[in-house]
Amino acid sequence: MRAIVTTRNGDVDVLKVETRPDPVPGKGEVLIRVKAAGLNFADILARQGLYPDGPPKPCVMGYEVAGIVEAVGNEVDRALAGKPVVAMTRFGGQAELVVAPLNQIFEKPEQLNFEEGAAVPVNYLTAWALLVTMGGLNREEAVLIHNAGGGVGLAALDIAKHIGARTYGTASPSKHDFLKARGLDHAIDYRGQNWLPVLLELTGGRGVELVIDPLGGSSWKKSYRALRTTGRMGVFGMSTASASGIRGKLRAMKALAQTPRFHPLALMNRNRGVFGLNLGHMWGEGEKVAGWTGEIVRGINEGWIRPHVDRAFPFDQVADAHRYIEARKNIGKVVLVP
Ligand SMILES: NC(=O)c1ccc[n+]([C@@H]2O[C@H](COP(=O)([O-])OP(=O)(O)OC[C@H]3O[C@@H](n4cnc5c(N)ncnc54)[C@H](OP(=O)(O)O)[C@@H]3O)[C@@H](O)[C@H]2O)c1
Repeated sequence: MRAIVTTRNGDVDVLKVETRPDPVPGKGEVLIRVKAAGLNFADILARQGLYPDGPPKPCVMGYEVAGIVEAVGNEVDRALAGKPVVAMTRFGGQAELVVAPLNQIFEKPEQLNFEEGAAVPVNYLTAWALLVTMGGLNREEAVLIHNAGGGVGLAALDIAKHIGARTYGTASPSKHDFLKARGLDHAIDYRGQNWLPVLLELTGGRGVELVIDPLGGSSWKKSYRALRTTGRMGVFGMSTASASGIRGKLRAMKALAQTPRFHPLALMNRNRGVFGLNLGHMWGEGEKVAGWTGEIVRGINEGWIRPHVDRAFPFDQVADAHRYIEARKNIGKVVLVP
């Protein structure tokens, strides 16, 4: 099979399409012929050498795929063969074939094509955990979604709209019209101006009850200041470190140095909460994740979850796909097709 291999840390030239042995499904596993594989920011950070959870290189990245079950392992219902499925994969997804255990797959909803199917797991599970499970967002509240035009951002917007919360989002200005058309109440440019006074003005000086922040470093300090009383901040990434080579290392060090500390007594006295999420550390919590997946599939069937694929790049153009996201051009998901 062909697979996208991140050969070492570096710029996009370290990405190669190579031939690898076909994987074989073991007990309780299925073999999937991949029709589309999700590309996530984590894959870019891994290529840059800034993602501690990534496998040793050379490696095949890829956390999610949509495709067709080609074969099944022992103790798996043979009727699954030929079925269209979506799978969470612990790496290895950016390949023509991938093996996944049964508890990491679900049947692809009919109304989604394969590219949209591959856009569901990481973005929507992350957004669900942040907004619903840990953030406890409700309809009387307001939420600030950073990078609202990205993959997780658009997923969070779908969920926040369904809850009925007031929505504020930061994004590059070129994405604002799209975001408003998707239902975002207030789009804020966070690159050409200081977004905090703008948000405070829009909220009558009060701030919001929930902020989700994947930027890291000094952004977490600022987002915390945007919280209203009983507000919660969910931290889940360090996009701000993104860069190849020494520049990335320096940015990561700067972000770490600027990371704020939150004292429990200060949280208590200000009626605020701070929590973190790393979906990549949830592999041992299959039942929990399956519960969230069930809610997301219900949302797809009811029409309030609408995965948006911006572009699909063929495997051979994986370098362009990475560059596209790094240049902040994507609105929603980027997928790779064999
Ligand atoms: N902890 C977890 O479990 C988890 C799971 C999924 C994702 N994440 C994190 O969530 C963030 C979003 O992930 P995603 O896969 O959905 O990607 P994405 O949002 O599609 O990421 C790309 C967008 O992020 C914004 N951005 C902010 N800083 C950037 C930078 N330094 N370089 C390039 N783009 C930057 C850009 O949009 P604008 O300029 O328009 O804002 C860009 O279009 C990432 O930090 C990722 O690591 C964490």
